Amino acid sequence: MDGKVTRRQAMVRLARILGGAWAAAFAALSSTFLLSTIRFGKKDEKTLLGDLSISGPEFKAVPLRISVDDGWYEQVEEKLLFIKEDQADPENPIVFSATCSHLGCNVEWDETAGDDGEFVCPCHAGRFGSDGQVLGGPPPNALQRIPASIEDGNVYVRIA
Ligand code: FES
Repeated sequence: MDGKVTRRQAMVRLARILGGAWAAAFAALSSTFLLSTIRFGKKDEKTLLGDLSISGPEFKAVPLRISVDDGWYEQVEEKLLFIKEDQADPENPIVFSATCSHLGCNVEWDETAGDDGEFVCPCHAGRFGSDGQVLGGPPPNALQRIPASIEDGNVYVRIA
């Protein structure tokens, strides 16, 4: 070799540089998007979930990070909530914790199940109605209802 870079080598280097730049840009955009869709709050404090558009006629999953401080340690818990507007009480949206009362898996909303949809647990086939009550399977209790309110066009929850 005489130290010269062939046209082919130059093209390979250029492709690697462009590929790396594309991957870095994609990673940065992805992390920004993910962080922007996760809400943060503190246990026992009013936590902003979003504006009214977050609550619609169908249950929608909303991830949330809750900071829990017991005086010695502060840790962050990942939560998943399901939110839906309450047509009978528009000021108080319906919000459930997705945590199954059996062994703690996250339930999923299946709008095609039952008469008006069901929450289904993927771990042991537990089933809950749209009111959070147990319909079948091993769960001993209903889904936890989370206190929610609307103030100034925003939806707030309080995680106990
Ligand atoms: S954890 Fe949900 S049914 Fe077992």
